[in-house]
Amino acid sequence: MRPVIAGFVFILALIGAAFHLKAEESQFRKQFVENYRTNNFYAQSNLVKKNKDIMAAEINSLITEAMLPEKSYQERMNLLDIANAMATMNIHWNNGDEELLKKIEALQKEELAKEKKKTEGLEKLQAVEKVPGNFIMALHGEEMAAKGLSPVIYPHWVHRAFFRCKVCHEDIFIMKRGANEISQVKIQEGKQCGACHNGKISFNAGEEKNCERCHLLGRPESKPLMDLSYYSRDRFKEIASRVGAEWNPENLPGGKLPVDKLGFINWVELDKSKAFSPLHSLNAGPDPEGIRETTILFETTSTFLNNVLFSHKTHSTWVKCSLCHPNVFKPEVGANKVRMIEMKDGKGCGLCHGRVAFSYADCLRCHNQPRENIPQGVLIHRASAPAQ
Ligand code: HEC
Ligand code: HEC
Ligand code: HEC
Ligand code: HEC
Ligand code: HEC
Ligand code: HEC
Repeated sequence: MRPVIAGFVFILALIGAAFHLKAEESQFRKQFVENYRTNNFYAQSNLVKKNKDIMAAEINSLITEAMLPEKSYQERMNLLDIANAMATMNIHWNNGDEELLKKIEALQKEELAKEKKKTEGLEKLQAVEKVPGNFIMALHGEEMAAKGLSPVIYPHWVHRAFFRCKVCHEDIFIMKRGANEISQVKIQEGKQCGACHNGKISFNAGEEKNCERCHLLGRPESKPLMDLSYYSRDRFKEIASRVGAEWNPENLPGGKLPVDKLGFINWVELDKSKAFSPLHSLNAGPDPEGIRETTILFETTSTFLNNVLFSHKTHSTWVKCSLCHPNVFKPEVGANKVRMIEMKDGKGCGLCHGRVAFSYADCLRCHNQPRENIPQGVLIHRASAPAQ
């Protein structure tokens, strides 16, 4: 799939470049490109010999055009490629300037290296963030690089195994990326990540030997956070008993972590199996805002999907009421208009789903309740609920 798309994009870029050339190219360049594309070496040698006097200027103007900042990578490489061919033939048939060719080759190499670095960065990012809630943190990219450190990876999934969301959100972290002004000084003062990474609850963020346990992007040690092999029975049991949570792998069906359709941990099943019991606060106090047991049935306005059952119990076990009420949802049945379109923008249910909780691409996990079957005791959010 990937190479096909890349090839397609490349062809588009070529077409774009060809159109662009038309607007600016000289008669000579036009003829040269035509011969080059059609592999007409006989015509090309005649053309190059005849235009000996203007060749260097033509090549230089191609280089200048190629290096204009607004040129895309493909446009630039395409122009440099033609310049390279011109310079090569100019040497071959006219005894032309060899330095010109060296200059072009150096530029091509440089551009190639730059592009490779860019796409490597992108691939790294995509691989890390493919796992729901694995966030790359690089707001202070330059300061980290100055200390020879990589950007940080924050893996939600590792933390969720021992802490409910309400431990961190929002006493320790506002639930929005980049909104917490996280800094190494604050961490070492015992705030932010340092609320736990203090050498007591978890490894100490102030110790030299631990820097790279968080500053991890691009390092081989980051792999277990991406393919979930960070999990092992023994490791999770040890961590859980240290932090005061519970991990009972013997309750796992088949001894394995339950996964969803996309291969990521199914946290609802994990709760059902009683294989774990994360903390709901760091100081072993009571659950901050408690748990609500009601279930709300969203009658669907779609013509083809099931209704949606929303369990307050599942949600208030993980998150505080105050995260949803009243800013995201008014706490009144039918008072909110819930639309799919908002979810992709991170609003409504999309505040968590598709970011840390399972993806909205998993339609049937939400649209799960056959319309003809209304369970007993649920509150009903009518499809005709008022718009506002
Ligand atoms: C150990 C602490 C911790 C726990 C537990 C935790 N989070 Fe987070 N969460 C963070 C941090 C750190 C950030 C990023 C903050 C930043 O970039 O400033 C974050 C950010 C988020 C965001 C923002 C995403 C965005 O795109 O802006 C969402 C949504 C979120 N968390 C949901 C959850 C949910 C749901 C849970 C429980 C299932 C949870 N978190 C548990 C620490 C935690
Ligand atoms: C509520 C407590 C808590 C907070 C807050 C917290 N962590 Fe953790 N973190 C843990 C625990 C517990 C582990 C499990 C590792 C262990 O202690 O052996 C862990 C593991 C990790 C790991 C796995 C790497 C490894 O070598 O084990 C990374 C990476 C990480 N945390 C980064 C962060 C970052 C970055 C922040 C702040 C944005 C943060 N954590 C905030 C408790 C916390
Ligand atoms: C528990 C995880 C964790 C550990 C361990 C950790 N850091 Fe960081 N560090 C962070 C986070 C999170 C940030 C902020 C990331 C961002 O800029 O988005 C950060 C930022 C930084 C920055 C740039 C911003 C600033 O505040 O100066 C430096 C430099 C830095 N860390 C150095 C270190 C050094 C040195 C160590 C080891 C002694 C270390 N870190 C260990 C999580 C960690
Ligand atoms: C996180 C839960 C969740 C997921 C996942 C989800 N939906 Fe929805 N969806 C809802 C809720 C709640 C409503 C509002 C009640 C209704 O009209 O069905 C809704 C409404 C809709 C509607 C009605 C009108 C509209 O556009 O809002 C359509 C159509 C729809 N969803 C399609 C989908 C499809 C297709 C997917 C998968 C790509 C999907 N949904 C995934 C929760 C979800
Ligand atoms: C994940 C978000 C979320 C969390 C967390 C949450 N709620 Fe709700 N709540 C909703 C939604 C969605 C509705 C339905 C709104 C509608 O029908 O328009 C609702 C409805 C309500 C209602 C009216 C229906 C009923 O159950 O009587 C009350 C009261 C309420 N919530 C209280 C709470 C309390 C108390 C907590 C914490 C213990 C809580 N909620 C946690 C999303 C949430
Ligand atoms: C504040 C964060 C948050 C918001 C907002 C939120 N959810 Fe969730 N939801 C979660 C978490 C966490 C889980 C546990 C599963 C997971 O993390 O993948 C969950 C689980 C669910 C499940 C259980 C799926 C199953 O397998 O049983 C459904 C259904 C669901 N959410 C629907 C919704 C709908 C519909 C809305 C909007 C009305 C919504 N959620 C809003 C965090 C959220």
